[in-house]
Amino acid sequence: MQSDERIHKTISSKQNTKKTILITGGAGFIGSNFVKYIYNKYPDWHILVLDALTYAGNPENIPLEIRESSRFEFWYGSVTQPAIVNKLVPRSDIIVHFAAETHVARSIYDNSKFFETDVIGTQIMMNAAEEHQKLERFIHISTSEVYGTAVTDPMNETHPLDPTSPYAAAKCGADRLVYSYMQTYKYIPALIIRPFNNYGPNQHLEKLIPRLITNALQDKNLRIYGDGLNSRDWIFVEDTCEAIDTAIQADIEDVKGQIFNIGTGRDISVEDVAKIILKNIEKPETLIIKIPERPGEVRRHISSTEKAEKILNFKAKTNFSEGIQKTIDWYKINNPWWKKLEWMKEVPIKLRDGQIVMY
Ligand SMILES: NC(=O)c1ccc[n+]([C@@H]2O[C@H](COP(=O)([O-])OP(=O)(O)OC[C@H]3O[C@@H](n4cnc5c(N)ncnc54)[C@H](O)[C@@H]3O)[C@@H](O)[C@H]2O)c1
Repeated sequence: MQSDERIHKTISSKQNTKKTILITGGAGFIGSNFVKYIYNKYPDWHILVLDALTYAGNPENIPLEIRESSRFEFWYGSVTQPAIVNKLVPRSDIIVHFAAETHVARSIYDNSKFFETDVIGTQIMMNAAEEHQKLERFIHISTSEVYGTAVTDPMNETHPLDPTSPYAAAKCGADRLVYSYMQTYKYIPALIIRPFNNYGPNQHLEKLIPRLITNALQDKNLRIYGDGLNSRDWIFVEDTCEAIDTAIQADIEDVKGQIFNIGTGRDISVEDVAKIILKNIEKPETLIIKIPERPGEVRRHISSTEKAEKILNFKAKTNFSEGIQKTIDWYKINNPWWKKLEWMKEVPIKLRDGQIVMY
């Protein structure tokens, strides 16, 4: 056998072998979509989920078929608890670390949990990863929020890091912590992914798009912050799952120690998103009302897609009109899922002038 043929065979058999993947935060929005993605794509893989089931986590986000499968294990517990982390990490070939407190408004209302979960939790995960000699890949899920408002168009991975809310600062702390471990312990096979704004099925109603959709479905007002012109790079959650998968499949030498933005390269303002939703549901634009700007808001986010395209061969497939259609259809059908979350849709924030506004 030619030596390069042999190498090829080794690589392909390695990719097809059974893997154990640990997904932290797998009962949340992106995490549960990612569990579904991995379960369907890799019939031989064993999935471990570690989730603390906070208000944002819901085991029912994971379909019953998966929960009952012998390929799946659900571990109730926190990434801040070394005892459970140190049991699960050594069993894993691949780790995708999603677990976090994730809501900007909640981080303004009370930020204590954010630093504990997002920073200390990541430190505990990284300490376990550092000790685990056979770990093949550790993917840290960071966020575009670490950048703050765009100072370049588009924003690439070297854009300054200027987080503007406690959530963003906690995630930035975690992002820099992972980066420091990648520098200090060069052997940790880690990389960082910074997704831009995700939307899709199973997203908590506290987040903008589900809140707008479910309010529109109930003829309630769509409350938009500030002038409505804040814009985001909206990416459909299935595209994000595919992007993470490309980072799992890529040659480790191409991705180790690297940072990747995951976005579409297009931004749409919050007001336009509201109008698109209303048009789709056939409700009048008069439902839109403006409320004072939320403190700590980013003005604009737009991702560069160049590095992900070049190294991961990833390009988002779903355009916004397709993705929002799928998302609206999901919320229309899944009324019992989201009705239970209605009371948690908004958080009271006290502004400087003493006014309390629900965000
Ligand atoms: N949703 C987005 O638009 C977006 C964009 C960029 C990055 N991200 C990042 O992606 C990740 C997932 O985001 P999401 O929107 O799915 O979040 P989410 O709030 O829907 O889910 C978070 C999950 O983490 C779990 N969790 C919280 N604290 C935990 C702890 N101490 N231990 C174990 N599990 C814990 C929760 O129970 C929940 O299941 C986060 O790291 C977030 O910062 C999200």
